[in-house]
Amino acid sequence: MKIIKTVLEMQSFSEEKRCAGKKIGFVPTMGFLHKGHLSLVKKAREECDIVIVSIFVNPTQFSPSEDFDNYPKDFETDRKLCEAEKVDAIFFPSESEMYNSPQTFVEVNELGRVLCGKSRPSHFRGVTTVVAKLLNITKPHKAYFGQKDFQQFVIVTKMVKDLNFDLKIVGCPIVREEDGLAMSSRNKYLSPDERKQAPALNSSLQTAQETFSSGETDAAKVKGAVTKAIVDAGAKPDYVEIVDASSLKPVKQIEKGNLLAIAAFFGKARLIDNRVFE
Ligand code: PAF
Repeated sequence: MKIIKTVLEMQSFSEEKRCAGKKIGFVPTMGFLHKGHLSLVKKAREECDIVIVSIFVNPTQFSPSEDFDNYPKDFETDRKLCEAEKVDAIFFPSESEMYNSPQTFVEVNELGRVLCGKSRPSHFRGVTTVVAKLLNITKPHKAYFGQKDFQQFVIVTKMVKDLNFDLKIVGCPIVREEDGLAMSSRNKYLSPDERKQAPALNSSLQTAQETFSSGETDAAKVKGAVTKAIVDAGAKPDYVEIVDASSLKPVKQIEKGNLLAIAAFFGKARLIDNRVFE
């Protein structure tokens, strides 16, 4: 497995593989890999000849008040995990390798302003800009994104369509701990008590599904019940929204395929979770 630190070397690695007729699968990450990331790597391994994982904690998607400096890092463990999954190359650039006083940004307008975009106004601009760069650097045929970050998946898919990137974005299901908590590097910030409260996110999503299955379609009522369940568990909701899963616009009457998305603070940790109504 290669560890590649420069853009030039990464591009020539990928170019060589493409010229040899190999299909490249790419998994962008910010490191501190967990089973959620590894499920993306496994899917890429199944579907492609060459698997590239990037590890880069992207400063431009954090606001000044967020956790950039303290974002968890453990390159040595990440390296071993990638090796065990038969990853071909890790792209592990420095900040200066990725950014040199840039003046160009990629922004997906409306989709980036709702849900998480309301409380994190510059976040998705940072994500789409770095993802566009990483796609140009790693030149994949397919790029894999987890659907825990459903809004990110929708936005990146739209960016790829709007800008005619010649590749496919693949969305992969949320991976959960045994008690239902969605895997996230940020779960590390939870105190033992908060960790016990946090599965309430998933159980409130499950209850909402059951309520819908038994005939309730009023989005306001379902949102109210989910909000109450989260507050009762001891968390502070940032938002609870029921939206169309492509436009991310709120719906009044729930239909199958709509997305229930939640963000909530457990102490300092802001966790997100979601579920598509079945
Ligand atoms: O989902 C993430 O970890 C990040 O937003 C991504 C896609 C690697 C871009 O920095």
